[in-house]
Amino acid sequence: MENKRKLSPRETNHLIKFGIDPFSDEILDSGEIPVEYLTGLAEFYERDFVVSKETLIPRIETEQMVDIALEFLSKKKGKMFQFVDIGTGSGAIGITLALELRKKRIKYIGSLTDVSNDALSIAKKNVSKFKVDLKIRESNLLDSFSKFAKFDLILANLPYIPTERINNLDNSVKNHEPHLALDGGYDGLDLIVKLFSQMEVHLQKNGLAILEVDDSHDERLLNDVLIQHDFIGSVKEDLNGKVRFWIISKRKNNKR
Ligand SMILES: C[S@@+](CC[C@H](N)C(=O)[O-])C[C@H]1O[C@@H](n2cnc3c(N)ncnc32)[C@H](O)[C@@H]1O
Repeated sequence: MENKRKLSPRETNHLIKFGIDPFSDEILDSGEIPVEYLTGLAEFYERDFVVSKETLIPRIETEQMVDIALEFLSKKKGKMFQFVDIGTGSGAIGITLALELRKKRIKYIGSLTDVSNDALSIAKKNVSKFKVDLKIRESNLLDSFSKFAKFDLILANLPYIPTERINNLDNSVKNHEPHLALDGGYDGLDLIVKLFSQMEVHLQKNGLAILEVDDSHDERLLNDVLIQHDFIGSVKEDLNGKVRFWIISKRKNNKR
């Protein structure tokens, strides 16, 4: 009896929404498995995305990335543009952006990439579910793109948690979500720093990159990275007032 699961109101509502009895034995014995993995669905930007234990459960803070992208694109009226969602997982960011652009009748060419083929098979399911036109490509960051591939918008929610903090995460995260989606190396910036070098080649002159980061990745750390590149950037907080995004663009005199 004492090991029976106690659900939060959010978890209870999630199960009820998808027709699962929150008081069934299966649920009460499910330990700390996130309810999204029990239903196979997670809500993002008011839509239900297919998820599996190979994909991160998209977080509510990440929805703001789509809003920042839409604000940037609203200034590029009428022009066809190219975007890529790197480390797409379930595809939630890129697919949401594509759906919002469709509503606004803005034309795009979009790609979803991930190093994990298992994650991409879930992204594929969501692309079919939402009937969006997006390319899906297995890639370590932008390694698989030719040097001629240029993006107006680069979106990336890569693993960014410093390795030493992984052990302090809630059990439901640490024991159930893929570490490939969480562990960002010593200071959490391993992949983000590599991506900066690739963005020198792949970000269009007037393009924008929106990178989700850890709340420890403050302006000082951003400046440490920027000093090695021909970019300008700023830190943006999430709705809880925590550092959450780095917004990066090329310097105006950049020749590439
Ligand atoms: C924090 S999760 C984000 C998933 C999704 N974008 C979201 O916001 O829900 C990070 C994703 O990056 C992927 N990833 C890890 N290393 C990568 C790499 N070197 N290149 C591309 N993707 C990578 C993981 O497989 C995972 O899907």
